[in-house]
Amino acid sequence: MEVVIVPDATAGGEIIAEAVAGLLRRKPDALLGVATGSTPLPIYTALTAKVSGGEVDASRARVCQLDEYVGLPAGHPESYRSVVLRQVVEPLGLPGTSFFGPDGTAEDVQAACEEYDRALAAAGGVDLQILGIGTDGHIGFNEPCSSLRSRTRIKTLTEQTRVDNARFFDDDIDQVPHHVITQGIGTILEARHVVLLATGEGKAEAVAQTVEGPLAALVPASALQLHPHATVVVDEAAASKLKLGDYFRATYAAKPEWQGL
Ligand code: PGA
Repeated sequence: MEVVIVPDATAGGEIIAEAVAGLLRRKPDALLGVATGSTPLPIYTALTAKVSGGEVDASRARVCQLDEYVGLPAGHPESYRSVVLRQVVEPLGLPGTSFFGPDGTAEDVQAACEEYDRALAAAGGVDLQILGIGTDGHIGFNEPCSSLRSRTRIKTLTEQTRVDNARFFDDDIDQVPHHVITQGIGTILEARHVVLLATGEGKAEAVAQTVEGPLAALVPASALQLHPHATVVVDEAAASKLKLGDYFRATYAAKPEWQGL
């Protein structure tokens, strides 16, 4: 995988937004897989600025979710459907019909998961999947020891993830759902390009294990080692535990500009 070390989160957002803009210039109706959480926000801010400034036309872009809480009522402000509408779909001015995700309110959750994998395939597959990473190395909500070939399915969150996400629920862990629907690791690996952004010291250990550790279900993000086009963008703090940091810096500095990410 390619590792790009940037000075800060804003620079990470900019570089990934430019990759998305480049994709949309080549393929205006590209399907973008979007992640939630705090990390990707600079990407969406930078992309929205490019669209508002006329640098790229996103009007035909399509957007799909990576994961969803199970059991939050439709319209709950912290359901990932609401979050993606608020942070991506509305700022980019996309019609609601350009956006889809798994149904976390479905009575038959398993059927909803299978339906979502079918919907992704029917849409032609994800062109660029944006990912964050959990402090425990999860991608999407594929918690440690998830099958590296898993499909979209229901998962139970670890205590650590519920603690991490309590800040979105009035700092009250009891409000954080236990269950989620997440694209599986096998599903994520089908995206044509996977771009993971990690920022801050808290992610440094997970990043080092993802990039330089063994391929292991214990660190779900390490599955990106299997992907032919995976890009890991990290700020200096998140890069601080990489042994090969200098190599990654030199490689990126020498990269021909036309290659993009
Ligand atoms: P965060 O979440 O960006 O809010 O840290 C990342 C993740 O859990 O994937």
